[in-house]
Amino acid sequence: MAHIIVTGGAGFIGSHTVVELQQAGETVTVLDNFCNSNPEVLGRIAEITGTKPALAEIDLCDREKVFAFFADAKADAVIHFAGLKAVGESCKIPLRYYSNNLTGTLNLLEAMAAAGCKKLVFSSSATVYGDRNPVPFTEGMPTAATNPYGWTKLMIEQMLMDTAAADPSWSLVALRYFNPIGAHPSGLIGESPNGIPNNLVPYIAKVAIGELDHLNVFGDDYDTPDGTCIRDYIHVVDLAKGHLCALRYADTLAGFKEVNLGTGHGSSVMEVLHAYEKACGRELPYVIAPRRDGDIPRMYAQTDRAKELLHWEAESDLLTMCRDSWNFTKKNV
Ligand code: NAD
Ligand code: UD1
Repeated sequence: MAHIIVTGGAGFIGSHTVVELQQAGETVTVLDNFCNSNPEVLGRIAEITGTKPALAEIDLCDREKVFAFFADAKADAVIHFAGLKAVGESCKIPLRYYSNNLTGTLNLLEAMAAAGCKKLVFSSSATVYGDRNPVPFTEGMPTAATNPYGWTKLMIEQMLMDTAAADPSWSLVALRYFNPIGAHPSGLIGESPNGIPNNLVPYIAKVAIGELDHLNVFGDDYDTPDGTCIRDYIHVVDLAKGHLCALRYADTLAGFKEVNLGTGHGSSVMEVLHAYEKACGRELPYVIAPRRDGDIPRMYAQTDRAKELLHWEAESDLLTMCRDSWNFTKKNV
């Protein structure tokens, strides 16, 4: 049984990963400052797994506290979710994003090194493929950033690469997530953004529950079969399971490796809307709105590396993702 530290473990993807880790018999400590989550989530995790994870309520930017925590923790590995993640907000307050995401990660890596814990799985993003690459996105493609949030992901990947190059006793895995949606099938944990959601499925969920009038479909004149943008939506539970496989892979890895976590399959905005309609049992109003700045027509993953190295593959289809999102939404209004 290993002791895994999960930074950002109270957040959307982190909480689902804590569930999977505990169900696999691991001992987990959640390190979170709750700047975008709620401590109640830990009770919900206990309802699902029977065990409340230990909590270290710490801001990763508080260097002294992070060092003190790792000096005592006897950690075997870290999964690092903690970070700010809203693309639009990152353009408005870039320094806050650079400060939180980069300083937090530097403190974490240095505290781990001081404590002799050198195994880490990092939440990267498909955003690092930028807007010039053809689909499907493969790990060897050139990377680029189009906003400060994306730059923080690229800069952190660079930090990890340099760290591993200097000292190959580190095992560092960057997981490049595509579009995580859905919720735990229990309906106890899921995604609940504050205010009006920016992302597609949380927005549709609010239309379905009656909190918002209609979906704005951002552009129907792209060069895609139905004219709307295509993304690789992945069930958050599949994604969470990918982290367990990445931890196992890290046991055998000397150095750094980046791996896509997606399904390898793209769905359009209209396909997602129709799947959600099936899930909630009614038609959902929408209007065609102008294109959103910065959107690219198509993105989906090449998944061979995840299959080969992690022995992992996503299982859930779009309808299951929408059903689980709707189940969570109904139970948490
Ligand atoms: P989230 O906001 O739900 O979770 C992030 C958690 O980190 C929150 O609980 C927050 O309180 C915590 N946190 C943030 N800054 C912290 C700090 N300085 N110290 C301690 N805790 C801190 O986000 P999520 O959707 O679960 O995403 C998790 C990670 O995955 C993020 O790094 C995000 O950039 C990355 N990611 C997310 C998506 C997505 O679509 N959700 C896609 C690609 C990558
Ligand atoms: C998001 C992130 C991106 C990350 C990617 C995968 C943002 C702005 N970008 O982008 O950094 O790499 O996930 O994790 O958060 N749409 C509508 N109406 C809406 C909302 C969205 O039509 O109200 C459309 C968008 O134009 C897009 C698709 O739905 O075509 C998906 O949008 P979204 O959920 O925001 O994800 P990404 O654009 O892929």
